[in-house]
Amino acid sequence: MTQWKPDSWRSKPAKHIPDDYPDASALQDVEGVLRKSAPLVFAGEARNLKADLAAAANGKAFVLQGGDCAESFKEFSADGVRDTFRVLMQMAVVLTFAGGKPVVKLGRIAGQFAKPRSSNTETRDGVTLPSYRGDIINGMDFDAAARAPRPKRMLRAYSQSAATLNLLRAFATGGYAHLGNVHQWNMGFVKRSPAGARYRTIADKISETLEFMDACGITPATAPQLAATPFYTSHEALLLGYEEAMTRIDSTSGEWYDTSAHLLWIGDRTRQPDGAHIEFCRGVRNPIGIKCGPSLDPDEALRLLDMLSPDNEPGRIVLINRYGAEDVGRFLPKLVRKIEAEGRSVVWSCDPMHGNTQKTSNGYKTRPVDLILREVGSFMDVVHAEGAWPGGVHFEMTGQDVTECIGGAQAITEEDLKSRYHTHCDPRLNGEQSLELAFLIAEQLKRHRDAAAEAAE
Ligand code: PEP
Ligand code: CO
Repeated sequence: MTQWKPDSWRSKPAKHIPDDYPDASALQDVEGVLRKSAPLVFAGEARNLKADLAAAANGKAFVLQGGDCAESFKEFSADGVRDTFRVLMQMAVVLTFAGGKPVVKLGRIAGQFAKPRSSNTETRDGVTLPSYRGDIINGMDFDAAARAPRPKRMLRAYSQSAATLNLLRAFATGGYAHLGNVHQWNMGFVKRSPAGARYRTIADKISETLEFMDACGITPATAPQLAATPFYTSHEALLLGYEEAMTRIDSTSGEWYDTSAHLLWIGDRTRQPDGAHIEFCRGVRNPIGIKCGPSLDPDEALRLLDMLSPDNEPGRIVLINRYGAEDVGRFLPKLVRKIEAEGRSVVWSCDPMHGNTQKTSNGYKTRPVDLILREVGSFMDVVHAEGAWPGGVHFEMTGQDVTECIGGAQAITEEDLKSRYHTHCDPRLNGEQSLELAFLIAEQLKRHRDAAAEAAE
């Protein structure tokens, strides 16, 4: 392979990156500013995440990766970040307590601003304009000025990412994530929903356990992990000019890290072995996710692993599978079989969102909660059946009480979608639906753990 440099991707074919910035010198100026800007995350943190992911690759942890499909400038608020963080913490509590596994918390946040689109253009009432590609590239309003790509948007995405990370670090380590607050994380929906009632039962048990531990002298002073949690960030490495500008040599290891997030993933539409996105990601030492959809041949997956993880380092690769509830049984078994037979170390993760998108008769893009739950269930069964560990999920969610995915305990109907449909791209699970997902996963983890214990007897 040729020598890697942060800009070596520029000589490869690059999909889904705009090539029509009206002002090339403005683009270079912005990239120059970013190159001199402070890193958002540190190499040592990315290495900690890699160690945590290695545990998930080895069957000893579970990875919860969730957040917006696309973050937006307009919807940004401290309360919004807190609510997303809070739902992820609730889910993690359910999985840790009911599923019995440590949970790696990985937000799809603080940098998730660029979107691959199925079409380059969008037509409304006979008018055709470039598609919206995420706030880091262009604007969502349907007019020519908004849809033109603007380099300065990268600076705004950078500063919003910095503000978001600042909040997340404060929530994760400044006392909010203290396990003793497990009841305070209650959101409106937890008070009235079935998932909420189940959550309260777990929260009560945790409170009792903490009281007992306290009496035994185990307190946040002696066990700091009771009061703080690692929380990592991730986004799709799509807009490579931005990623390149955020890439630095780590002074401790002398290796390259993309300091825009702890983990970067490569989308299902940009994982061509000879393409720019694989080229960029192979040279940075962050953990890397790869989206695996129906078009990924197992031999090609192996080739990608050879390129991205030539030394088969545990924790380096997360394979994020997204086939749809109908197709997971057809595609996943042969992929798991091949990768496991070759002895490759990966985290097996399931994205039950992107293969289950539908259009309703009233024109909304939605996802039925029952298909989302079904895909996760099938994923876990298939991976277990192949003798591997289903090590994580990747999903689109928000802490806001939106109506974007139909079904769930609230039984959101197609008619309800219009009431609170706010997403900037794909439909997300709301807080209550996310908690239902956590309970389903916890049940499956427990079922497989009990089966393994029985087999060992
Ligand atoms: C996404 O995660 O938002 C996405 C576009 O997914 P995929 O690459 O799997 O289609
Ligand atoms: Co999406």
